[in-house]
Amino acid sequence: MAEAAQSTLTAPDATALEIFQNQWEIYRKFLQHDYLSNGEACVALHRFLTDGVGRPYRFLDLACGDASGIVTALRATPIEHYRGVDLSAPALALAKRNLAALPCRVDLEEADFSTALRNLPALEDIVWISLSLHHLDSAAKRTFMREVRAAIAANGAFLIYEPTRRDGEDRPAYLDRFEDIGRRDWCELTAAEFAEAIKHVRTCDLPETVSGWEELGRDAGFASMSELYRSPTDLFRLFLYRP
Ligand SMILES: C[S@@+](CC[C@H](N)C(=O)[O-])C[C@H]1O[C@@H](n2cnc3c(N)ncnc32)[C@H](O)[C@@H]1O
Repeated sequence: MAEAAQSTLTAPDATALEIFQNQWEIYRKFLQHDYLSNGEACVALHRFLTDGVGRPYRFLDLACGDASGIVTALRATPIEHYRGVDLSAPALALAKRNLAALPCRVDLEEADFSTALRNLPALEDIVWISLSLHHLDSAAKRTFMREVRAAIAANGAFLIYEPTRRDGEDRPAYLDRFEDIGRRDWCELTAAEFAEAIKHVRTCDLPETVSGWEELGRDAGFASMSELYRSPTDLFRLFLYRP
């Protein structure tokens, strides 16, 4: 059962909606052809949930989008509650349909992920964010991760799948590498779609280095960070933080 909470459309909401309207079709192509390796990342997440958790758990999916990929990771695991948060109402409408495949209660909330952790009714076991946290600058990431740490149960976990720079790689070098890989591999995008995707990445993306993600986790109060998956392009990594 999925319930979508509504909120008034504020300026950031309008931006998210605009991004959804202009770029969702392009993002669908990235998912369809697995250009961002979301599929393999979800396989790694599924493995963690079955081998590393293996007990009934509550799952909070921040910036869940249409939840099309996450459903495969969560199906056939002992999930007892799924809560998804996204600023885009159309994405949540698609998520509601996709999440009907889960055998648990589903709640969807139209809200900003960076503030959604305030006033949680209960501690979460697993908090997940994918391809969204990198839009915050380092200070905002730190503040957000502190709130995640406070919202997680003692034996819980925080997992992120995000663009990640190699240690020693600066942002311009990462963006050039991103564009080179895209030009080589993403053959199903039109020239206009490729240009739009690269414009978005060059304008909005603020990937941390591996050491940077580790330091943010330490600053936020997490005891450890480990890498569960690295995309073949080495553009994206899946990290597990433990309290
Ligand atoms: C690239 S998609 C990622 C979706 C999904 N997590 C995945 O990995 O496929 C980014 C999503 O973040 C949402 N979004 C962007 N900024 C947000 C914010 N501040 N709060 C909540 N959702 C946001 C967008 O509406 C979109 O659905």
